Amino acid sequence: MKFSRPQQLPPYILGEIVRMMREARKQGEDVINLGMGNPDLPTPEPIVEKMIEATRKPHNHRYSLSRGIPNLRRSICNWYRRHHDVKLDVESQCIVTMGAKEGLSHLILAITEPGDVVLVPNPSYPIHIYSMVIAGAHPEPIIATESLTIADIEAAIQRAPKPPKGILLSFPSNPTGQTIDKEFFTQVIALAKQHNMWVIHDFAYAHLVFDGYRAPSILEIPGALDVAVEITSLSKSHSMPGWRVGFVCGNPDMVAALAKIKSYYDYGMFQPIQIAAIVALDQCEQYIDGIVDIYKSRRDELCDGLNRIGWNVAKPNATMFVWAKIPEPFQSMGSMEFCKLLLNEGKVAASPGVGFGEYGEGYVRFALVENEDRIQQAVQGIKRVLRSGPKKS
Ligand SMILES: Cc1ncc(COP(=O)(O)O)c(C=O)c1O
Repeated sequence: MKFSRPQQLPPYILGEIVRMMREARKQGEDVINLGMGNPDLPTPEPIVEKMIEATRKPHNHRYSLSRGIPNLRRSICNWYRRHHDVKLDVESQCIVTMGAKEGLSHLILAITEPGDVVLVPNPSYPIHIYSMVIAGAHPEPIIATESLTIADIEAAIQRAPKPPKGILLSFPSNPTGQTIDKEFFTQVIALAKQHNMWVIHDFAYAHLVFDGYRAPSILEIPGALDVAVEITSLSKSHSMPGWRVGFVCGNPDMVAALAKIKSYYDYGMFQPIQIAAIVALDQCEQYIDGIVDIYKSRRDELCDGLNRIGWNVAKPNATMFVWAKIPEPFQSMGSMEFCKLLLNEGKVAASPGVGFGEYGEGYVRFALVENEDRIQQAVQGIKRVLRSGPKKS
């Protein structure tokens, strides 16, 4: 049998390196995994404890609410007030989702029509591009290999085959690590209003920030609620990737569209997870600093190490990734072949830039999901590869 929708999706390039890494490990190789951005730190204990306590109560075993229990929605609204001075209405401007990914995918399904054009950065987190494809919309690339500017967005509007309906952005960015200031978002909102576009901002790395940088929420911009929603997640800030907790907040029409679609698809996440997520948001801010410190040390270890061995990389001031231009002698191999070489000869798994879109070609992304000793070991492996030069792996 053949089904057209899955056929429009290319093989998941990022999964190929993971598959090869597993294969090598099965053969007894010690491969350091800087590939997939799967946080390795444990979830803070009070969140786990609350989950266990809530799971023991039979009334929490029933179907929950598709849009999330009111107390959890209240907690995320309070979070926005505390961190961003943004006031949100609990009923109309906030919905709980099963991670940012589910929220984003269903939101796109809810608000686009087949053939709609939506501006999406390239390179970007793959679901940003492919949620459009799955919904039958056309993702028009905002081409920005390292640093995305307002001029890049304007160029994409000009290039688009028809007037875009919306724009999807995400800062701090995966994979590039780019951060922006509030003025950038002010211009995005102005542009969106001028061109009659909605805006989705994926804010998954809101709190993984270093060196005194503060990531602005797009909802801080006056008038943003007229056109924009923001997606947040507990996966990275609270080290809860497996729990699947996300939120979509902002424009009430967009939130209502998502709520309606979700009311058909799901009954909300397991209630003990929602109750534990309230503890995460209300009582666990002190743990975020510890998580951030760990990622920062790992960033320093990797970037200092790579610079020492002659691979010049910039230190990102946010996210859990290092986006590195492939050194000149290896450029012509392409990012996939270079990552295979890193894996086979250096025993290091990294993500090929092309896995984030065609304009990511020429780069690799390292995820900071191993400890500092392992990162040091990875740098030694990479050094071996750089020393021995390009070859087919
Ligand atoms: C930009 C971005 N958005 C969303 C996610 C996934 O978030 P969640 O675990 O909440 O689905 C990731 C994970 O890597 C990401 O990089």
